[in-house]
Amino acid sequence: MQNIVSTIFNRFSSKSLPLVLLTFLLTNVSAAQDLQIERKVDNLLSSMTLKEKIGQMTQFGGINKKYEEMIKLGEVGSFLGVKGAEKINELQRLAVEKSRLGIPLIFGNDVIHGYHTTFPIPLGAAASWNPELVQLAAKIAAGEAALEGTKWTFAPMVDIARDPRWGRIAEGAGEDPYLGSVMAEAEVMGFQGNNLNNDLSIAACAKHFAAYGAAEAGRDYNTVDISERTLREVYLPPFKAAVDAGVSTLMSAFNSLNGIPASANYHILTQILRKEWGFTGFVVSDANSIGELINHGIAKDEKEAALKALTAGVDMDMGGDAFTGNVYSPNLASLVKEGKISEKLIDQSVRRILRIKFRLGLFDHPYTDTLYIKNHIPDQKLRDSAALRLAEESIVMLKNDNNLLPLRKDLTSVAVIGPLADDKYDPLGPWNCSPIPKRVTTVLDGIKNKLSPTTKIKFIKGCDIESNNKRQLDNAIRIAGQSDIVILVVGEAANMSGEAASRTNLDLPGVQEELVEKVAKVGKPTIVLLMNGRPLTIDWIAKHIPSVLECWFLGDQSGNAIANVLFGDYNPSGRLPVTFPRSVGQIPIYYDHLNTGKPFEENNKFTSKYLDSPVTPLYPFGFGLSYTTFKYENLKVEKNKIKIGGSTDVSINVTNTGKISGSEVVQLYLRDLVASVSMPVKELKGFQKIYLNPGETKTLKFIITPKMLELYDVNMKKTIEPGKCEVMIGGSSVDLLSNYFEIIK
Ligand code: BGC
Repeated sequence: MQNIVSTIFNRFSSKSLPLVLLTFLLTNVSAAQDLQIERKVDNLLSSMTLKEKIGQMTQFGGINKKYEEMIKLGEVGSFLGVKGAEKINELQRLAVEKSRLGIPLIFGNDVIHGYHTTFPIPLGAAASWNPELVQLAAKIAAGEAALEGTKWTFAPMVDIARDPRWGRIAEGAGEDPYLGSVMAEAEVMGFQGNNLNNDLSIAACAKHFAAYGAAEAGRDYNTVDISERTLREVYLPPFKAAVDAGVSTLMSAFNSLNGIPASANYHILTQILRKEWGFTGFVVSDANSIGELINHGIAKDEKEAALKALTAGVDMDMGGDAFTGNVYSPNLASLVKEGKISEKLIDQSVRRILRIKFRLGLFDHPYTDTLYIKNHIPDQKLRDSAALRLAEESIVMLKNDNNLLPLRKDLTSVAVIGPLADDKYDPLGPWNCSPIPKRVTTVLDGIKNKLSPTTKIKFIKGCDIESNNKRQLDNAIRIAGQSDIVILVVGEAANMSGEAASRTNLDLPGVQEELVEKVAKVGKPTIVLLMNGRPLTIDWIAKHIPSVLECWFLGDQSGNAIANVLFGDYNPSGRLPVTFPRSVGQIPIYYDHLNTGKPFEENNKFTSKYLDSPVTPLYPFGFGLSYTTFKYENLKVEKNKIKIGGSTDVSINVTNTGKISGSEVVQLYLRDLVASVSMPVKELKGFQKIYLNPGETKTLKFIITPKMLELYDVNMKKTIEPGKCEVMIGGSSVDLLSNYFEIIK
């Protein structure tokens, strides 16, 4: 933890985060009383009836008068979607004071990127490549959620996503297993703190286990069929990182995985999660995913679905309400009576659930202590400053010809055009929790705050996000013609990404593309700001617009952060966590692909490419521009031969060669050149985000550890093989210096 503080201090030495936020990040240090907890769980379990045990395994969505009786009878263990300390305390009182054993309820909600204070969507936050800030955002979200009774979040979503047609790409950290793992760990640590038994900590839930992001054709909920190798190399690492960081719960996914639905998949839920990884928390199903085993065609009825999910390893049923959708509560008792499942299996799940309730301190402090939390959470101003910092760092500058940006603050006239320019709702993104839209600063607000009172600012929407109405286009063109600078704010509506929001066409929706093209043709210096939950296909914009900023959905501080970048008060430092394709036809496209037997060559037909499109992406993974420039030199490998199990230092000099200070994300990739199995052309294995003043050089050191050199051999055994490796360091996945070392026996 000390490390995090010093990293943050170092990184922001010129513009540091307030000390009180850093201290907040460090609270909750205390060891868990695991042994004692196990004893308490055993005691409690021995006095529970079968009905009470099944109650613990049951979660209801929303509330209903009839539930009060069920709570008193111990027939429910958890609620989803109930918010507010007063309501939650009231229901909790029924469980604690009116039920036979007084077992507290656990209340969960989707606190994905903030509770009230809304931070950038996870894909945007991943573009910051700043895990400490992501951790702080999760910690603030946890504090605000806890203040309103929520002690469990269904986050982080750690699904790797390589298909931007899939709308849920917005909810995760993008395409890369390593970056995804770093972000997963940061979020778990942020939500849970060092000790769950603290009023400000909440339990996290790594979801959706597993490989949900690999849905065929990018269509949500669709079938997943991938090799065991791809599963383990690409999709599982962020889950493993979450488990290693102490995540309390996992959520079993909707999709089927290699023919077996994830919510009935013994291989992942028990073999890998429990036996290989030693996970001790509990698994909750995704909403109704147990009942959906019928649609998947592996259960003839709900009873069989319950049987299959439980024996595979799903501990809690996230159902609809008590009367529809919930599958465990009406079926488990008869399955036990019929001898189809043992009570021992039930006990195992209940033990896992009670363990987390004890770890959270719910038995000792079942009620939300709003006074305590209010006194210990940073004030709103500080929370906003963290949200602003993360929003700034999430912005990726994709293009800036002739240094059109940053803009001067004494411009004579500016046209701000686009359906998202003065929008307070969509910048909150998909899966916002309990946002306060009036707090959102729009791009127009942000720009107005920066410019001198004499600047003429003209605003017009130009068109809607989605409709085909072109009535305002001519006015937009006219306003552009009357202004010195044109800022276009275009993209998707928040609900076009997230769950059940897959698209086959990733162009700007509605007539926005036409708006951009017509306005750009007016010929004024034009900047495009993109707001979206996924990479969009913006080939025309990339060719014709001089400056383009990828702004995702940045939450409350959208307009302030964007204006800080536009006017040079923040030098952009975001880097893409996902590859931007030129067209939908290139999907899936990701940087760490295998080489093929006929790797692409420019003038050679029989190599891996397309007849009608370049093979390269529009913007590669790890890419992002700055207002300054960085030079990489002197990539040194300390030992050019290392023994299996050994490690080596590598170092590189990075210099800020421009005129202003800025942050650079120094990325380290490895390639195993000859192995027993084909290995990716490069794989991210480390990164450091550093801040450099003009002319300043830093020598950065990375350690190549044995873990970074592991691969799965032909028998899917983790191993390190002798042979030559290439180490590459640079500012994006395509702009790298290289050197070599050899692994020897
Ligand atoms: C989603 C989950 C979410 C759950 C509860 C489901 O439809 O797939 O990600 O946590 O609903 O809201």
